[in-house]
Amino acid sequence: MRGVRYGGGYMSDEASVLQEQIRYYQARANEYDNWFFRRGRFDRGEDATQRWFAQVEEVRRAVSNLPLDDKNVLELAPGTGIWTEILCDRVAHLTAVDASREMIALNRERLGERVSKVTFIEADLFEWLPTGEFDAVVFCFWISHIPMRRIDEFLSRVASMLTPGGTLFFLDGRKEPTSTSGDHVLPLDDEELMTRRLDDGREFVIYKNFFASHVLEEKCRSVGLDVTVHETEDYFQFGVGTRR
Ligand SMILES: C[S@@+](CC[C@H](N)C(=O)[O-])C[C@H]1O[C@@H](n2cnc3c(N)ncnc32)[C@H](O)[C@@H]1O
Repeated sequence: MRGVRYGGGYMSDEASVLQEQIRYYQARANEYDNWFFRRGRFDRGEDATQRWFAQVEEVRRAVSNLPLDDKNVLELAPGTGIWTEILCDRVAHLTAVDASREMIALNRERLGERVSKVTFIEADLFEWLPTGEFDAVVFCFWISHIPMRRIDEFLSRVASMLTPGGTLFFLDGRKEPTSTSGDHVLPLDDEELMTRRLDDGREFVIYKNFFASHVLEEKCRSVGLDVTVHETEDYFQFGVGTRR
């Protein structure tokens, strides 16, 4: 059993937290978009909302510059499809892998007829491996939910999923308190877990890691991924690169 530091103590083993993390997203699926669209508990005031969406635009521009047209693309942890629908309009085919069937159902609904371009796979990303390689791999708001000790292994798996010269894009949040709701406390620097609440008050403990951009670049480089990690002013960190 592997202990995980939380609030100065050891609260659980890694496998239990990873299962709780899956249950959290299953339970959150119907209210998930409130976070991205800054509604309800995630409305942190007009200034924060404006800054958020201005920075979302920066990320969208970076995505629109990726060479994805007519490519065979893999999206990991696609959730309700906020990014799936943007990818879907450009690619030849998208494979989308998520552990939550609730998330996948909402994603399908969002895509409408475009769903014909997507193969959804309900699977645990700590176990799933594809049979072939992809022209591009994309994951948004997923890397922060990977235990620190498993990041290198995960990135190396991502590299093996990409064709040489293939494109990698990932996006996650910077450590900014207004990125989440006012009743969430971000992990301290030496912690990697946090408690998340749903609108009905239920609580779940999940992984939430924040990486310095240069650390992510080094980790990518060491597994054969040449990536530049960019940051927007407050909220986002995204990596753009290729497999060597
Ligand atoms: C923060 S959401 C990101 C969703 C989407 N990419 C976005 O940017 O809005 C994390 C996603 O990871 C999925 N997830 C959590 N644990 C997983 C696991 N072990 N394997 C596969 N997917 C998992 C959740 O179901 C959820 O859809």
